[in-house]
Amino acid sequence: LRQITQTQGKPPMEAPKGSEFFLRLPDVQAAKPRTVPFQQPSQLTTFSYSPDHVQEFTNSALRYYVDPPIGSNLSYGYERWIRAPDTRGRIDSLLKAVSKVQSDAQAHGGLPEIGLISWRGVMSKILLAPYEKFEGWELNVMMVNGTIYLEEHLSDEKLSKKNNMDERQRSQTYYGYAFESYCTSDTPPGQRQAQRTSPGVPPGWSGDVNTNVQWCSVVRTKLGDTRMIIGGEVDCVRGKYTGQTDTFVELKTSLAIRGQHDETKFERKLLKFYIQSFLLGVPEIVVGFRTPAGVITTVQSFKTIQLPRMVRGKPGAWDPLVCLDWGNEFVTSLKNAIRQAGSGEDAMTAVWRVKFTPGFGMNVNRLDASGIEDVVNGEDRVGFLPRWYWDEIRR
Ligand code: A3P
Ligand code: MG
Ligand code: MG
Repeated sequence: LRQITQTQGKPPMEAPKGSEFFLRLPDVQAAKPRTVPFQQPSQLTTFSYSPDHVQEFTNSALRYYVDPPIGSNLSYGYERWIRAPDTRGRIDSLLKAVSKVQSDAQAHGGLPEIGLISWRGVMSKILLAPYEKFEGWELNVMMVNGTIYLEEHLSDEKLSKKNNMDERQRSQTYYGYAFESYCTSDTPPGQRQAQRTSPGVPPGWSGDVNTNVQWCSVVRTKLGDTRMIIGGEVDCVRGKYTGQTDTFVELKTSLAIRGQHDETKFERKLLKFYIQSFLLGVPEIVVGFRTPAGVITTVQSFKTIQLPRMVRGKPGAWDPLVCLDWGNEFVTSLKNAIRQAGSGEDAMTAVWRVKFTPGFGMNVNRLDASGIEDVVNGEDRVGFLPRWYWDEIRR
């Protein structure tokens, strides 16, 4: 195992040869991040998941923002919550979208070379790593024709933890989804019917929660020199859907702030909100502050780009440049290391595993055959890529 150490907050430019390497996190206190350019995300396509969690290339799951009533009860409807099964977050449906975009673009000469394809959630985890103190995670990585593919690797342990949440955790998670119901409508503002009040249904409730249903945006952007395609869920749009990301709204719930300690905690949390929204080009974040029992007390809208300035110099301060500099370094080191480890068909089908240890760094190593079998799980895949996609890009 060769270790790369950082000097003076300057991350290494080169990863060593071999099938295993380590990348140390920057010290967020001392780091003097470089300014890494990040291109404004531009939308390539959208898709929806139906109530049965079937992917369709429509905007059927698109929702429009509505102000939620103060006093809304986020426990309402908990018993009727239809939960999407917690499965491994495969990259398949994103690749379906990429494949569709590629074939639509053929007529106009195709897309430029893409350096990385991933869900937004995975990119967020990578960018947030310098500030993450507790939660470790793992990724599967492949590089085919110069494009890096990333997917989260959930250990059996983590997967069963997710599926066996205790009742308290589960009801807290539900608050977030209930807030989405109070904040959205399936019709744009102009076409909205006066809300009929049904007995027992609280004002503003737009329907029971089914977390199978999702609306996703697929964008292209560029971090440093790496062009990327990123896909992620978008909670709703404000006013109208323009076909771009400019009216997207991210919805969040958070405990009402009652003192300095809460405020600092909230400021730290804003980094997560920021990175998550920033990566997809979501310009607005609406936060519903709630009581511990799940009653909305206030609602506040934040402009994503203003968040870094809001926390500057505060106790819970963070610097987004640290995240971008690190993210760029991680991606380029990963690419260099995989490229140097070999070329040809064998290298193309190789799966690499990234293990993140909070406060420390990323360990990257190439999986052997048995490791890859675990990843594939008996499905028709090459590495972790679905066979149909592999056949398409290797034609
Ligand atoms: P809150 O963010 O309001 O807590 P998102 O905010 O990304 O649109 O996700 C919607 C909701 O899904 C969240 O609402 C939260 O309830 C739940 N959720 C998302 N990520 C989660 C995670 N890692 N663990 C537990 N719940 C999560
Ligand atoms: Mg969401
Ligand atoms: Mg949300």
